[in-house]
Amino acid sequence: MKKIRTGVIGTGFVGVAHIEALRRLGNIEVVAVCDTYNVVKKAEELFVEFAYEDYKLMIDEQNLDYVHICTPNNTHYNMAKYAMERNVNIVLEKPMTFNSDEAKELYELSKKMKLTCAVNYHNRLYPACAYIKEIISENKLGEIISINGMYVQDWLLYKTDYSWRLNSDESGSTRTVADIGSHWVDLIEYMSGLEVVSVLAEFKTVHPIRKKALGDVLTFSTVEAEKYENINIDTEDIVSLMFRLSNGAIGNAMFSQMVAGKKNKIEVLISGSEASVEWSLDKHSDVIVGHRNKPSELITKDNLMMKNLNNMFDYPAGHTEGYPDAFKQVFKDIYNNKNKHSYASFYDGYRQMIINEKIYESAKLKSWRNIND
Ligand SMILES: NC(=O)c1ccc[n+]([C@@H]2O[C@H](COP(=O)([O-])OP(=O)(O)OC[C@H]3O[C@@H](n4cnc5c(N)ncnc54)[C@H](O)[C@@H]3O)[C@@H](O)[C@H]2O)c1
Repeated sequence: MKKIRTGVIGTGFVGVAHIEALRRLGNIEVVAVCDTYNVVKKAEELFVEFAYEDYKLMIDEQNLDYVHICTPNNTHYNMAKYAMERNVNIVLEKPMTFNSDEAKELYELSKKMKLTCAVNYHNRLYPACAYIKEIISENKLGEIISINGMYVQDWLLYKTDYSWRLNSDESGSTRTVADIGSHWVDLIEYMSGLEVVSVLAEFKTVHPIRKKALGDVLTFSTVEAEKYENINIDTEDIVSLMFRLSNGAIGNAMFSQMVAGKKNKIEVLISGSEASVEWSLDKHSDVIVGHRNKPSELITKDNLMMKNLNNMFDYPAGHTEGYPDAFKQVFKDIYNNKNKHSYASFYDGYRQMIINEKIYESAKLKSWRNIND
């Protein structure tokens, strides 16, 4: 059986997660990796045969079926365009691009090409989230009236915490929104089937000057450095967001990278006229369905497996599946290349780029912004 040939650009935190998940699918060979830093060593450690510093050379030489783009946001557009123009299918990390103009161009290009073009909003592929989507589409909650929740972390709490994400030249106009908020907004739009139509946001930058460690420090590293340089920060640490949805429902969310002890907390509470649903990444295989006049229900993994979501589980109930498994499920969905899919398309990625920018605009102008204006 011929294996699908895949190349991965960016071998930092998330690139390695891509490679591990791809290998678990079995029919995909990661034939090459590309990184501008230490790539030969990285390729050896990851047991990948070919290592490149230049993504164009990798794409030109390796006859790839797919390329996964796992580099800082400001590089996504050029890499994706180059690969698409050479008929290579694309898996782009989120946020799709640096700004919505770039995303629009890639989306328009994707419509003309017979390629699979996906953005890795992987939270959609937790089976509990697919279950929530299903029961909402079956009208089990009645009319949706409100949605709220949070996506919070603590890895940028201290002044000495630094990453390329803090720099708007690499991240784009937003940082916390682009990095984690867009995951949350994509997830609630996906689960509810509704669209966010207007937003009002407040931003706070707690550390306008941060101390960047001199030397090599990886994303999410907790290693302390000996020397630092001062860097002015022009992106937000905390976001308080209010929004209106396409059916008239209202919502709010908090996105922060500065909540001590919360490593990666995602919570969603969707309320309908008949029932509510609650999901938290801390217990990602559970869904709480809330009722007014009868006991609320806790739907666990074994219940989910009975509800025809079997193809999203690879292990039986009682055996936990988590973050790497959500990646595996996204890639399974993408590489299956079916018309009906759950992964985020380039349209979905473009949409999130527009919402990110409207949230930014709202915070700067201190007023509601309509997404479609
Ligand atoms: N879906 C998710 O859960 C998730 C999680 C983390 C990151 N991400 C996204 O993935 C992307 C990468 O984030 P990360 O945390 O892995 O960052 P990272 O800093 O850990 O890794 C980025 C890697 O890209 C390399 N790189 C930079 N410019 C390059 C270029 N021009 N050519 C080749 N390699 C280059 C860097 O040397 C580094 O190894 C971002 O867009 C981020 O938003 C998504």
